[in-house]
Amino acid sequence: MPDNVRLSAVICSSVGLVFVLSIPLVKFILKRRKSQCRGIDKVGKQLREEEFDLDEGCSFCNSGSWSCVPRRFIDRQTELIRQREKNNQLWAIETEPNLIWESHELLAEFVGAKVENIAIIDNTSTGTNVALKSQKYSPGDKILLCSFAYPAVIKQAEAVVQGNPGVELVLFEIPFPIKGEDDIINAYSKALEEHPGIKITVIDHISSDTAILFPIKALVDLCHKHDVMAVIDGAHTPGQIKLTLEDYGADYYVGNLCKWMMIPQNAAFLWVHPKHQDETKPLVTSHTVYAAHFRDRFYPPMTKDRICHILVKDAIEFYEELGGLEAIAARNAKMVTEAAAMLSEAWGTPHLEVTRDVRAPHMAVIGLPKDLTEAYVNNTPVDLYHDLMKAGVSVRVSSIGEETWCRISCHVWNDWDDFERVRDGVAMLAKNSKMNTGEKIRPPYFVPHSIMDQTK
Ligand SMILES: Cc1ncc(COP(=O)(O)O)c(C=O)c1O
Repeated sequence: MPDNVRLSAVICSSVGLVFVLSIPLVKFILKRRKSQCRGIDKVGKQLREEEFDLDEGCSFCNSGSWSCVPRRFIDRQTELIRQREKNNQLWAIETEPNLIWESHELLAEFVGAKVENIAIIDNTSTGTNVALKSQKYSPGDKILLCSFAYPAVIKQAEAVVQGNPGVELVLFEIPFPIKGEDDIINAYSKALEEHPGIKITVIDHISSDTAILFPIKALVDLCHKHDVMAVIDGAHTPGQIKLTLEDYGADYYVGNLCKWMMIPQNAAFLWVHPKHQDETKPLVTSHTVYAAHFRDRFYPPMTKDRICHILVKDAIEFYEELGGLEAIAARNAKMVTEAAAMLSEAWGTPHLEVTRDVRAPHMAVIGLPKDLTEAYVNNTPVDLYHDLMKAGVSVRVSSIGEETWCRISCHVWNDWDDFERVRDGVAMLAKNSKMNTGEKIRPPYFVPHSIMDQTK
């Protein structure tokens, strides 16, 4: 055998041997890394103590409204601000665009999207505004919303109506009890048939006060059959359910990253179907408004803090470290279900009449005790919401139908003690509020609810 052939054979077999021998080593390293993960057993009280700086006087069971941010994200945010301020021009021209591009790639994978269809933006309201306001409306066009739609989204639709004479807003009800996906689909179908001329609708993927999980794939198909554009409001979905954005066939999908993903306030995303990308414009006109790709229009070089957009990587890694989305979802769903049962029994109140298959996995809605709601009969749910917060109970309070309800959320820092404190805090406020008849100061952003209310 010639020398060069022998040498090649020796090299090949050595490489093969090294490869075979390294397999157990790689497996060992991966296993060790996994065992260093915190894992799902460590979430709850221990995680709260180790990773969060939460006010000990309060039980935070309202991640549906405001999430809690792990200390490590705040540290990273601070570190990035310091890096930016060392050389803010280099940051703006090179460092930030690279980090933000990496965020887009990681996020796209996490939510089942093609990276070219997604833009990281500041919040859900920005995304729904962009979707509604990027369209051209003609007299006779209608915008359809379910009455569970987020109040700010109703106002956004009203703003479109005000700016486009002849355009109308149609609000429709989904009656309770909701016994499954078909009840929701049938209600939408009826609304679409009864109101010809609907141009666009915003559908919650998970609704806010009612915490209902909507069958969006079926609803998008239904809308398209009626030639209606479907914008999905997914403020509550990233981190709560596994998303596969490319499969839904929606026209727009907006998701928040500051709720269940725990990023500090200022990060969300907008997914846009390729057929609408040309017409999609940011709300603030700046340098890149004519950029060829729609995402670039949202990233003009302007004075703006975008560090939260970079924390996507940290958020995804934290989820992985805690055991991954599936394990977190299963744990939170179990705990919130048990907590809702405990509160409903303690307060003698019902669950919102929604079957499990259409309930948001990490949230539950139960009635508040009668003695508490009667004490607040002269006030609004917002007043009660505020007084509960001041009593150390952070939950969402709202009116649905004639009753006042409490929405609880369970996330990774929550443990059973939080829900016991909700139970006891509510009972204590009920006891102390027997004489409550006074007018409350209401924050202006909650009133009026909508033009519809003013004209009722
Ligand atoms: C269903 C729904 N849509 C939209 C929003 C608005 O989100 P943002 O405050 O990020 O604009 C919220 C906020 O809680 C919501 O619950």
